[in-house]
Amino acid sequence: MVGWILKKILGSKNQRELKRLMPIVHRTNEFDEQFKSLSDEALRAKTAIWKEELAQIPELEDQWNRLDEILPEAFAVVKNAARRLKDRQDTFTVCDQPMKWDMVHFDVQLLGGIVLHRGRIAEMATGEGKTLVATLPLYLNALTGRGVHLVTVNDYLARRDAEWMGRLYDFLGLTVGCIQHDQEPDFRREQYAMDITYGTNSEFGFDYLRDNGMATTREQQVQRGYYYAIVDEVDSILIDEARTPLIISGPATISTHQYDKWKPLIEQLVRKQNMLCNRLASEALEKFEQGDVETGGRLMFKVKLGQPRNKQLLRMMEDPDKRRAVDKAELSFYQDTRKEELFALKEELFFTIDEKSNESDLSEQGRNFLNPDDPNAFVLPDLINEFTEIDLDPSLSQEEKDKRKAERQQHCDAQAERIHNISQLLRAYCLFEKDVQYVIEENKVVIVDEFTGRKMPGRRWSDGLHQAVEAKEGVQIDRETQTLATITIQNYFRLYQKLAGMTGTAETEAAEFHDIYKLDVNVIPTNRPVARKDHNDRIYKTRREKYSAVINEIRDCHTREQPVLVGTVSVEASELLSRMLKREKIPHNVLNAKFHMQEAEIVSRAGQPGTVTISTNMAGRGTDIKLGASVADRGGLFVIGTERHEARRIDRQLRGRCARQGDPGSSRFYVSFEDDLMRNFGAADRMTRIMERFGLEEGQELEHRWLNKSVETAQKRVEQRNYLIRKRTLDFDDVMNMQREVVYTYRNETIESEEPRPLIYEVIDEAVPAKVQEYLTAERDEEPNYTGFLNWVNTTFPLGLTKEKAQFETRSVDENAQFLIGKIKDAYERKSSHEEPSAVKSLERYIILNAIDRLWQEHLYAMDALREGVYLRGYAQKDPLIEYKTEAYDMFVELMANIKNEVLHNLFRSTSNLQAFENFLATLPQFLLREHAPAAPTANAPARGRQLQPVGAMAAVAGDGDGAGEMTLDLPVRRSMPKVGRNEPCPCGSGKKYKNCCGRVA
Ligand SMILES: Nc1ncnc2c1ncn2[C@@H]1O[C@H](COP(=O)(O)OP(=O)(O)OP(=O)(O)O)[C@@H](O)[C@H]1O
Ligand SMILES: [Mg+2]
Repeated sequence: MVGWILKKILGSKNQRELKRLMPIVHRTNEFDEQFKSLSDEALRAKTAIWKEELAQIPELEDQWNRLDEILPEAFAVVKNAARRLKDRQDTFTVCDQPMKWDMVHFDVQLLGGIVLHRGRIAEMATGEGKTLVATLPLYLNALTGRGVHLVTVNDYLARRDAEWMGRLYDFLGLTVGCIQHDQEPDFRREQYAMDITYGTNSEFGFDYLRDNGMATTREQQVQRGYYYAIVDEVDSILIDEARTPLIISGPATISTHQYDKWKPLIEQLVRKQNMLCNRLASEALEKFEQGDVETGGRLMFKVKLGQPRNKQLLRMMEDPDKRRAVDKAELSFYQDTRKEELFALKEELFFTIDEKSNESDLSEQGRNFLNPDDPNAFVLPDLINEFTEIDLDPSLSQEEKDKRKAERQQHCDAQAERIHNISQLLRAYCLFEKDVQYVIEENKVVIVDEFTGRKMPGRRWSDGLHQAVEAKEGVQIDRETQTLATITIQNYFRLYQKLAGMTGTAETEAAEFHDIYKLDVNVIPTNRPVARKDHNDRIYKTRREKYSAVINEIRDCHTREQPVLVGTVSVEASELLSRMLKREKIPHNVLNAKFHMQEAEIVSRAGQPGTVTISTNMAGRGTDIKLGASVADRGGLFVIGTERHEARRIDRQLRGRCARQGDPGSSRFYVSFEDDLMRNFGAADRMTRIMERFGLEEGQELEHRWLNKSVETAQKRVEQRNYLIRKRTLDFDDVMNMQREVVYTYRNETIESEEPRPLIYEVIDEAVPAKVQEYLTAERDEEPNYTGFLNWVNTTFPLGLTKEKAQFETRSVDENAQFLIGKIKDAYERKSSHEEPSAVKSLERYIILNAIDRLWQEHLYAMDALREGVYLRGYAQKDPLIEYKTEAYDMFVELMANIKNEVLHNLFRSTSNLQAFENFLATLPQFLLREHAPAAPTANAPARGRQLQPVGAMAAVAGDGDGAGEMTLDLPVRRSMPKVGRNEPCPCGSGKKYKNCCGRVA
């Protein structure tokens, strides 16, 4: 009842909103009428006039207001042009196929266009012509000259739509570009320079990452801003794809995992557990036979904890009595009073694994097996307690206390790493199946998207899971890569000033679109009434029975020559069905979203009489299915779903494949109690009761609209859960996102600066006072560290300052900072005066970029580790997100400080030109050079083919020529300590990281 009322209100809200837009549609049609009398040239001329006018408006806001004003007229121009193309009937090619233009925008399409222009999501059923709808707002917004993007789900669709709609844009005098996977940067830049650019989300995203994270000059960048994007199949891109971020990776500097080391033991452990579970399952069966249902149920529950995909278990679950016994056991064990019993039960296994939450946990037995000498090796120490104990120990000095704490911390980190490795391996073995969640290709683990059944080469599971699966499969463990640049799809699309989307199915996810992207959904009515008939679900006890029913249904359709489209949720299911059909000698096509172009071709023919097409849900999306001759009389296309998907949206999408544009068509879903969805999220108890009531016999089916509701409830439950997971991922990425924005902005400012000198001086102005503070602000009763400070000054800048000359103690902290800044800038001016001005500029940019890139990548690595780490802290009852935020913030502050210090450090260690450098050296006191400067400044091969020549070691030189005689200080040009990684513990034993301790001065 509540739902019905809600729907009434929501539905009418949507209707009210659309109603308000109707006058605009009418205005558009009036203009369209008027324009009929114009010549082609006069119509086309409007484009140039508007473009010119909008170019005069500097502010984006004002441009937008103007666009709103001209919308009806501009839409009418597009519609009018479409009619002219239709009347002409000339042929053009789209994806190498001849094509004739046959569309003029319908009113509902104009409506959709307005919604898109307003930065909303237009839900328009499949086949309503969204491709054409997008031309309206794209044309309008492209008039600003800012470049608008249309985002598609694959390269084929990008090309098809760019070429197809390109006909219209071309007529109107706008240029259109298309980004494809294999294009060179120069070509891409040209495509982005067009008025309208089509491309896939990952191409757009990767170009962003390359432009902002890798390019070192403006000429290398290809994109030109993020003004307006329309995302086609917006649910697929912003919701399904959003779960794996885009990552560009490169060779890693550090690697810590031990997957290969643990693999053999884990393999044995899993085998032992499986044997144990098989035995338990057999025992359970015996107990059931003896009539001892309770013990049987308890045993089965235990199997479920230990090996949720145990074959015997799954079979027993088909039996309502047994199923009920397990449910009962499970329910009773989760009561608070039986906590200890549950714990004891878990301890009888080697480990437990939770399929729903993807979590695993070792028991005492398991720990003993993995490390008989030290079972505690897998228990996280209680650090807080230990620290308190150390603090309270009167026999320890402060120094010893710190040292012990550091030791404990290190010990804890090592434990955590080990536990993490093992739990990931257990997941890899118990929950991840080859050819379901992943496939092996060319010795690599390739993820298969569970929503779309599509392979996603290049993507990796995070958190070490991918490596664990690699270890399991015995393929090369890719330890050699680390993240160089990464962004989630969500955050990429948030860059756009205005974002819009279209899809056949958005309504069920409206809340998420609103919360995360601030996108509201408008449901646009169809052009003609929908004639599709959606039958009730058919529910079976087992998968086997379900599939044979599906095959029977297909055979019937095939015999009466009604075309069938069979949707599956995985590649595996598609292949199984295909084998069954082969046995039946029913000809069919299988699509797995691998070869977009061919598959689109096949799908387009899926409406011909008698065809059978099996397809994972993404395959051929976006391709029109036209009905063949006399198919309408046989009921149109019949869509069979072989499993309910986790998300209702995906099911609706599948249904929508038939009955397009008012065609006849029908759909039916087949479900079994063994489907993952039903096993994990079905209202098990209720289902069991139903099964009992109807006393399902082999091969028998259930069908009732109440059952549809139960299935839907299960789906809603999963949707909610998945939403929370995505939200969580995003919460974490938001932290990174803010940091990325700061760093990328800094980077771009550097790349784009005509005069980078102020940026360099800004660094000096900020970093020097911080250093002065650090050394000279005396804490409590300590003395300011004048010697250390002088040492730092002289190892960083060639100032040749002596104690006497510096006289730091006579000045205040601030005065010292000013004094030093003056000296450094002086020396720097002198150094650069020897070089060619344009080369100096490049060098300055290089120094900053180099510092940013090197440290940012190191930072990304550390952030990955932090993210892994905080999850483990979850065990200690802390909120990982809060921990992550706090630490990430500290790390970022440190990063920015480090970048500046690194710039300072390299200011005098780099040159654009060796000769110039020598000239500079020549102006310096001779003895200094003999004593301290490197024999000859060597030009290191610059990184990534840059033309500049950073000098290997710093030339320790005095800027103050006059003060040379007083030089008494030794300048440690070379490191006296062994090379230590900046994030490694400091060799002095302080327990701090090297970069925060002795490494600070070096
Ligand atoms: N105004 C129109 N007049 C005539 N035919 C049209 C019109 N608009 C669209 N069509 C036709 O409708 C078919 C479907 O168009 P399109 O592929 O753009 O639909 P869609 O909404 O994107 O569907 P999907 O959700 O499958 O991507 C195409 O064959 C197209 O030619
Ligand atoms: Mg489409």
